[in-house]
Amino acid sequence: MDRFVIRGGNPLTGVIHVSGAKNSALPCMAAAILTDDAVTLENIPQVRDIETERRLLASMGAEVDLREDRTILSCRTLSDPVAKYEIVKTMRASALVLGPLIARTGMARVAMPGGCAIGGRPIDLHIKGLEKMGAEIAQEHGYLEARVERLRGAHIVFDKITVTGTEDLLMAAVLAEGETLMENCAREPEVADLAALLTAMGARIEGAGTGSIRVEGVSSLHGARYRISPDRIEAGTFLVAGAITGGDLTVANCCAAHLGAVMAKLEEAGARVDVLAPDAVRVRADGPLRAADISTEEYPGFPTDMQAQYMALATQAEGVSLVRENIFENRFMHVQELVRMGANIKVDGSTATVRGPARLSAAAVMCSDLRASASLVLAALVAEGETVVDRVYHMDRGYERIEEKLSQAGAQIQRLGNLFAPRERAHSAA
Ligand code: UD1
Repeated sequence: MDRFVIRGGNPLTGVIHVSGAKNSALPCMAAAILTDDAVTLENIPQVRDIETERRLLASMGAEVDLREDRTILSCRTLSDPVAKYEIVKTMRASALVLGPLIARTGMARVAMPGGCAIGGRPIDLHIKGLEKMGAEIAQEHGYLEARVERLRGAHIVFDKITVTGTEDLLMAAVLAEGETLMENCAREPEVADLAALLTAMGARIEGAGTGSIRVEGVSSLHGARYRISPDRIEAGTFLVAGAITGGDLTVANCCAAHLGAVMAKLEEAGARVDVLAPDAVRVRADGPLRAADISTEEYPGFPTDMQAQYMALATQAEGVSLVRENIFENRFMHVQELVRMGANIKVDGSTATVRGPARLSAAAVMCSDLRASASLVLAALVAEGETVVDRVYHMDRGYERIEEKLSQAGAQIQRLGNLFAPRERAHSAA
């Protein structure tokens, strides 16, 4: 199992480049199920969740040629609409194949997903929406079995805002008969990214990126070429890295327009943030950081996927920061590891109270989920001594070559162990 060994104390400087958004790439890959033609995607990040999705689609008979510069997916050969537990257990986003499989083949057998261990993560809203569109869905032996002659358009009002739920039903609606109106939709940029690809494939969609999406179903879709947007969570993680280390870092290849809440909070915490261009943001912190509260919300609010990283920063800020997690229960697993490094954090329900600045000192710590790992790496960048961050496979799910990118900006970070990432890249390019 790979580990990172990190020696803290270096301010990050220079330029760091952001990869494509994992959470856009996953639904866009699933969208290829909707057509016989080839779909070409550019800017797909080389991370483990993408490799999992490639294996998932390949196990159903699809051809996926995953390369660093572009990925070509062809689902003409799709023969087995089954998402097996062995593959999906590590990734909740596998529920994203449910909608497109039913829409395309009239049936689907999808294992109930696993993924990050951050609380009970049901997919009841995906199921409810597909049933409203006419699908019959049963649950047996850990699998969802879905059938339909042809989906029909429906009026769907989400009880709760769900990102992959919105994406899943959007992919179902584009091939349904008639019009679908979805309300209380997720407004995340990843939904808009997926809708842009679907539109390039011939779908008729209005309102993606707003709370209300209208879809006019079409009988078939064709191939398309599409470039995935930059990863706003990776970009946000680097902005925090620049600020927490008292550095001067430019985050390039990003989309500044997607980073509003994170940039505003970093400024409130005393960092200087300058948007140099639509795709480049510079962060500087030359004075002490100040406490600032965050409360996670759906986009455009402060992202839950940045909560753990922000908490690492809050340990270094003067004063008391309240961190409220409103999207997921049990998303504070990084807290006990930060405390082991010397942070002063108390958790009460969905609120963590962080008192700073704390002098962090190196310790052996363990990653528990994707974003928690990022939080530990950020804390290690300012801790005294050499921190060993274990189980970085969680981090490899969503961050591409993070140790290379951070070292280029001046961090002392080294990967020890099985060297998962280079081998995976070689494999993917094969
Ligand atoms: C997506 C992101 C994830 C991010 C999350 C919230 C992907 C692949 N993952 O996850 O990184 O942390 O959005 O921004 O894009 N819920 C239900 N029933 C459902 C679906 C969701 O109750 O059927 C609840 C969840 O338990 C959670 C909330 O709704 O409390 C939001 O979850 P959701 O937006 O669905 O998260 P994901 O799409 O899984």
